[in-house]
Amino acid sequence: MTTYRSVKGMNDLFGAQAAGLIEVEHVVRRLALAYGAQEVRTPILEHQELFIRSVGEGTDIVGKEMYAFEDRDGSHLVLRPEATASVARMVVQHDLLRADPKLRTFYAGPMFRRERPQKGRYRQFHQIGLECFGESSPVADIECIALADAILKALGLEDVVIELGNVGGPDTRPAYLELLRGYLAKREDELPDGARQTAQRNPLRLLDSKDPHVQELLHEAPLPMDHLNDHHRSHHEAVYEGLVALGIDVQVNKRMVRGLDYYRGPIFEALTTKLGAQAAVLAGGRYDGLLEMVGGPDVAAVGFAGGTERLLLVAQAHGRELGRVSPDLGVVAAPGADVHQILRLVVALRDAGCTVIADLSGRSVKAQMKAVNRKGCRYALVLGETELESNTASLRRMADGTIVNISLDLAKVRSAVMEDE
Ligand code: HAM
Repeated sequence: MTTYRSVKGMNDLFGAQAAGLIEVEHVVRRLALAYGAQEVRTPILEHQELFIRSVGEGTDIVGKEMYAFEDRDGSHLVLRPEATASVARMVVQHDLLRADPKLRTFYAGPMFRRERPQKGRYRQFHQIGLECFGESSPVADIECIALADAILKALGLEDVVIELGNVGGPDTRPAYLELLRGYLAKREDELPDGARQTAQRNPLRLLDSKDPHVQELLHEAPLPMDHLNDHHRSHHEAVYEGLVALGIDVQVNKRMVRGLDYYRGPIFEALTTKLGAQAAVLAGGRYDGLLEMVGGPDVAAVGFAGGTERLLLVAQAHGRELGRVSPDLGVVAAPGADVHQILRLVVALRDAGCTVIADLSGRSVKAQMKAVNRKGCRYALVLGETELESNTASLRRMADGTIVNISLDLAKVRSAVMEDE
């Protein structure tokens, strides 16, 4: 018999991992709403051209990693590799800034990149992200980074460091790139083959090369942050000072570059030491001009996205038990007890917000208790004929075996099992 496995780099999510990802999303949703953002969902399939225009043809994402196919009508579609371009497209398509010129959006969902899978790097992965439009003030960058910081703190990611860089904009980049190309031209012969190609295609990318030889060759290369104009410099300083005023620790990294072409101005990354090579748990920056690139108005924009799996992995590495699903109560039915009477109580408890498991299929009390233990129920309630007749039963707290006698009244049971939640 043929057995089937999931596609390489694409994970089935179940149990604590699925619950953990959902919990990360809950944390982000709560905080993003507090920052005045509204949740959006865009389609997973987009036109290929959208990412070529926005993320950039010379990037790894567009050049090597997109899942692209031709649809039956001949259109070229891709599984979205990221959502910033999609949200920008949505904002333009529906003219959303007319109703709210300072629209803030957030999203959670799957993205697809055909990268080499390893720990923390998958071909289908999830992102949570924030995209803010129409705010050119440094305050928007500050608030974005403040939300990112709040997410990291809420998830208990203590080792994570936020780095701040700056790539300048179309008003500074051509002159800077000329300087960089001039520097690289003098060292062309020493560059390894791959790096020489990158130098042609996307020289900025060489600045964060992991190859020690390339690093050494670029040690004294001109850096974009040293070649900003007054506007970018004062914007950058205002962002930095705002973060300091909020007590958010950021480290300036002059060599930081991003793997997407749409950034202009401040960029940032949150880095961990817990995931080996996959150091970035979250990243973003300002991308004024992207809306125009996808056919919309010239509007400022800033945002970030976090890798949901990476955030979860790092939270777990810090000992956080995200996504533990332990029912509040396991109800055990003794032989002969009235199943309907028990079901009425179980259903009423669930309606009242308790998580209750109950096996009313007539298995032995011992087998039912085992299941209550295995599922990690916080309480167990054994109900037999005597209990149902007297309307009282003993409630066992599983953590320490303490037993209390309670009346089988809905409100009493509910408050007993929920009180130490
Ligand atoms: P990005 O740096 O390509 O930026 O991805 C953001 C985050 O997604 C990364 O820091 C990482 O945590 C996670 N990530 C990326 N690729 C993978 C993968 N193959 N497996 C697991 N996790 C991954 C963007 O996507 C931009 N759209 C961010 C942004 C939003 N900039 C402005 N707004």
